[in-house]
Amino acid sequence: MEMEEKLAQLLAEAVKDIDQAASVKEIEAIRIGYLGKKGQLTSVLKGMKDVSPQDRPIIGKKANEVRDQVTQTLTDKKEALEKEALEKQLESETIDVTLPGRQVKKGQTHILTQIMEKMEDMFLGMGYEIVEGTEVETDYYNFERVNLPQDHPARDMQDTFYITPELLLRTHTSPVQARALEKHDFSKGPLKMISPGKVYRRDTDDATHSHQFHQIEGLVIDKHVTMADLKGTLELLAKKMFGEERDIRLRPSYFPFTEPSVEVDVRCFKCDGKGCSVCKQTGWIEILGAGMTHPEVLEMSGVDSTVYGGFAFGLGPDRMAMLKYGVEDIRQFYLNDQRFLGQFKRKG
Ligand code: DAH
Repeated sequence: MEMEEKLAQLLAEAVKDIDQAASVKEIEAIRIGYLGKKGQLTSVLKGMKDVSPQDRPIIGKKANEVRDQVTQTLTDKKEALEKEALEKQLESETIDVTLPGRQVKKGQTHILTQIMEKMEDMFLGMGYEIVEGTEVETDYYNFERVNLPQDHPARDMQDTFYITPELLLRTHTSPVQARALEKHDFSKGPLKMISPGKVYRRDTDDATHSHQFHQIEGLVIDKHVTMADLKGTLELLAKKMFGEERDIRLRPSYFPFTEPSVEVDVRCFKCDGKGCSVCKQTGWIEILGAGMTHPEVLEMSGVDSTVYGGFAFGLGPDRMAMLKYGVEDIRQFYLNDQRFLGQFKRKG
């Protein structure tokens, strides 16, 4: 029977075409080519009108079977192709979890912060409080309230960045003393404080000068504070910062806010006092200024200097770090060069 043969042939060709299809796109083209409105099956079925009425149901059934088979074969092949494409994609996108990760560069606490935090820890352990001052300060607190009146010759020692005639960038952390003193309620106990922070001077930057550097101010005021207390405190500080066996010496000096005033040296940690380039052959290295708080400073803050007294000190973490680590240029601390800063990893 001609019609049946045509259908069988069409099915065989379709299966062969589908088998050879290499993409989902081709499958769709084949579907349209066989089953679409103008497809081959449709054109074969146009011959139905020539089939005898008794054969028509048989041919019709056959035609439906062919349609179903072609459809099923197309579906199967499409699924197979999709699966294959997915597998290929998964294969090409595999992640090798054994590859080493990319290293994230970790920073570290700045060496000056490390030094200041070490001192803060020590003083906190001795019952001091940490007081923060402001970097923009008034002329009045920066100078007058620490006993440096308008025409005091010591003002020349500090070249100042003025913002207005009355406002400036503080040249030292000493104004924090005055602010802490006037706030403190002595009926509640002694005042023991340190104040770390940035200070500014109109210096031209070079290896030993920076227009901005750090200081730590210290102040202890109570009823019976003596110079021995000052010395003992500074001895502890020297040992903490430069090693247990370090001793210190006090030399007379002058600061307007202390009387008497001293400069404090630590025995050279490089040569142990024999004399070397670090201590300039003296065996000693100057580390800070200190003294017994001037009665005038107390009185200006409303503290009775006949009852209360104490000591103050001021030191420079930049200078300490330079001495301790043999850093020859203070500007290194402020360049943010990781090759330099990365050398100072905090231990423990
Ligand atoms: N303020 C001083 C300076 O900037 C440092 C200083 C010296 C502070 C002696 C003090 C002190 O409290 O007693 O050079």
